Amino acid sequence: MQFIREKESLRRAVAALRAQGGRIALVPTMGALHAGHMALVEEARARAGHVVASIFVNPRQFGANEDLATYPRREAEDARMLEAAGCAILWAPDAGEMYPQGYATTVSVSGVSEGLCGAARPGHFDGVATVVCKLFNQVRPDVALFGEKDYQQLAVIRRMAADLDLDLEIVGVPTIREPDGLALSSRNAYLSPGERAASRVLPEMLRALAAAIAGGATVAPALAEARERLVEAGFAKVDYVELRDAETLTPLGTLDRPGRLLAAAWMGRTRLIDNVPIVPEPATHRS
Ligand code: PAF
Repeated sequence: MQFIREKESLRRAVAALRAQGGRIALVPTMGALHAGHMALVEEARARAGHVVASIFVNPRQFGANEDLATYPRREAEDARMLEAAGCAILWAPDAGEMYPQGYATTVSVSGVSEGLCGAARPGHFDGVATVVCKLFNQVRPDVALFGEKDYQQLAVIRRMAADLDLDLEIVGVPTIREPDGLALSSRNAYLSPGERAASRVLPEMLRALAAAIAGGATVAPALAEARERLVEAGFAKVDYVELRDAETLTPLGTLDRPGRLLAAAWMGRTRLIDNVPIVPEPATHRS
């Protein structure tokens, strides 16, 4: 695996991969890799002959009071994992290489970026869309893979790629979970043992809520009850529990098409997000 920090070297290395033939996949990450990231790499290997992984803790997607300074960084260990998983290139620029002096451009995707995490983290999705657009232009992959755990991020990236006529396939990979259901996240490392134990209520709540709504429960009171359940389980603050259209992310008052239940809540000082699919149960026909 080639470990690359400069755009010029990246261009040459990607051109050499292209010359060998086969598709190129990109797995963008912020490092501190776990089994969720490795599932993206595995899926990338199944879909392309060459895999480029990137590690860049993108300052533009962190708010002023967020965890940019403390975000876990384990580059050497990450590099070993990516090499063992068969990546051809690790692209790990520093902030000056990604955003040189005078950098002045932001990619902003309206609609899907609004509400949910977009409301709680103003500017976050502008930062994500900007860096992902740059990564796409730097690597020029045929396919790029993202976890469904960040479901709104995936929707933002799909919208951006369609709107900007980016010629690549965007693939969402299902969330990898701990045995008790908690979605894997680099931020889970912030949780104390007690907080970690209580956090399992987030996926439990989503599963129960999906079953209740698919079984006919009225949406608004079911969502309110779910928020209550999180507070009772020890979550300090609930940013949202919402039912949205699975594709456009517009709010759904009734489950009349495929949807997504999405939640974000604070366990102590750690913000956890999760989501599950939900589909209307087929109508039963009587003869
Ligand atoms: O999901 C992430 O790790 C980041 O938001 C991404 C897509 C690598 C952009 O910085």
